[in-house]
Amino acid sequence: MERDLKQLFQSDPRRFSKFTLENDFLLADFSKNHLDTLHLLNQEEQSRIELARKQFFGGENINHTENRAAMHFRLRRTSPMDPLDEEVISIRDRFLEFGDQIFQQKILGFSGKTIDTVVNIGIGGSDLGPKFLYDALRDFRGHSKVHFVSNVDGLAIHDVLSEANPETTLFIVCSKTFTTQETLQNAQTAKNWLVNSLSKDAVSSHFVAVSTQVDLAKEFGINESRIFGFWDWVGGRYSLWSAVGLSLVCAIGATQFRELLEGAECADHAFENDPIHQNLPVILAAVDHFYFQKNGFNSKVVAAYAHRLSMLVPFLQQLVMESNGKGIDVSGNSVNRSGVVWWGAPGTDAQHSFFQLLHQGTEKLHVEFIGVTLQPKSDNDHQIKLLSNLFAQSRALMIGEKSSFPEKEFSGNRPSTTLLLKNITPKSMGFLVATYEHRVLCEAALLNINPFDQFGVELGKKLCNELLPVIKKESNSMELDSSTEGLIQYVHRHG
Ligand code: F6P
Repeated sequence: MERDLKQLFQSDPRRFSKFTLENDFLLADFSKNHLDTLHLLNQEEQSRIELARKQFFGGENINHTENRAAMHFRLRRTSPMDPLDEEVISIRDRFLEFGDQIFQQKILGFSGKTIDTVVNIGIGGSDLGPKFLYDALRDFRGHSKVHFVSNVDGLAIHDVLSEANPETTLFIVCSKTFTTQETLQNAQTAKNWLVNSLSKDAVSSHFVAVSTQVDLAKEFGINESRIFGFWDWVGGRYSLWSAVGLSLVCAIGATQFRELLEGAECADHAFENDPIHQNLPVILAAVDHFYFQKNGFNSKVVAAYAHRLSMLVPFLQQLVMESNGKGIDVSGNSVNRSGVVWWGAPGTDAQHSFFQLLHQGTEKLHVEFIGVTLQPKSDNDHQIKLLSNLFAQSRALMIGEKSSFPEKEFSGNRPSTTLLLKNITPKSMGFLVATYEHRVLCEAALLNINPFDQFGVELGKKLCNELLPVIKKESNSMELDSSTEGLIQYVHRHG
């Protein structure tokens, strides 16, 4: 990069205040980036974002390949503005009431014992959001335990079932489409276990479903009164605000879940109304665009200096990469470069694994540090060490160090953004997650791509179904490449 970060600070004592945004939840510090201004967008880019924002909040069919709108913001609206909002709110009240009863341990299982354990069976968007927040909001949990089973690897469900008591366990089968192989397999295994342990009649007391496909959930054997629906205009990775969040409601109760929604609604208002050059998701996307599209940077590293945010990166990976990892623009033309790789791990652990590469490696990476100023349950000695590590790392990346030994030289001038949250509460998490959602929309607008479809996951699913009979030795008629054939034969010999 031509500009030198150290010099930018030296030449402007007010750089920090000029390059930070502050709101009720956090401070965003963009000053350690190679920027001369936060007015990063040209007129055309600004218009694209403004149009995308207008179409999004206007409920237009912006997911044009699937001919539907993307209106997840409606899931957190507190005051209804039209009949659809009223429907959303009434369905919200229903799943919140049920989840809150589990939270308060007022629901009984088949044999009359209190339900105290919940198993969410779902994958991708039907798993990652609630799982991240279950972890993040640990300090707000009641007494009910929640497990998350996603992988089709039988050991995932085995590990949970082997420690569960069928009389006190509730399964939430969470799947927008109710066709996802992993979820249906895990749900079937859980159902068999329950029927073998209790009785066939116990299923209605121990299974609920969350899905847009009520008929398929009924066919699976779930009682209609325990099916919580949502809408096809809610994308899986944007769905934690709907009944997909039921497992989280069971854990933290309806009141705290409503706070989560309120925090997200604050982010919606801010995104819709803040001027573009002071608009947090817009600036976050614009900084990424500056590095990834205009300056050849390759990936984004998220280092959250907060144990409670340990599951943030897996959640963000689906949100960002399933949304913007696309090869064509909205007109169907190839794009040279779309969304980049996001990865990361919590600090300080990450410092002792991959930070070597951040400081001296040759990859062009942009780092996003996340910190929390107040963590009441963490001893102050820990908290001050945690924060000084965070600040030391962004400073080290920036200032570097000269040495007469090349292996000890730090080039410095490596950029980063720091988000400093005031605390981790349902409301602040709602704000943070919704801000990331809007940032993805802005990035997609800048790239001129559709962030709301995910056809890239389909081919693998199709080929998996084709291979199943070959692996099961029910068919050998398939023409396969020698690698796939050889791997299957190895399984036949050793499996
Ligand atoms: O395979 C990808 C995907 O379709 C995600 O987009 C989605 O979140 C996940 O699978 C789970 O889908 P479902 O909720 O329909 O089971």
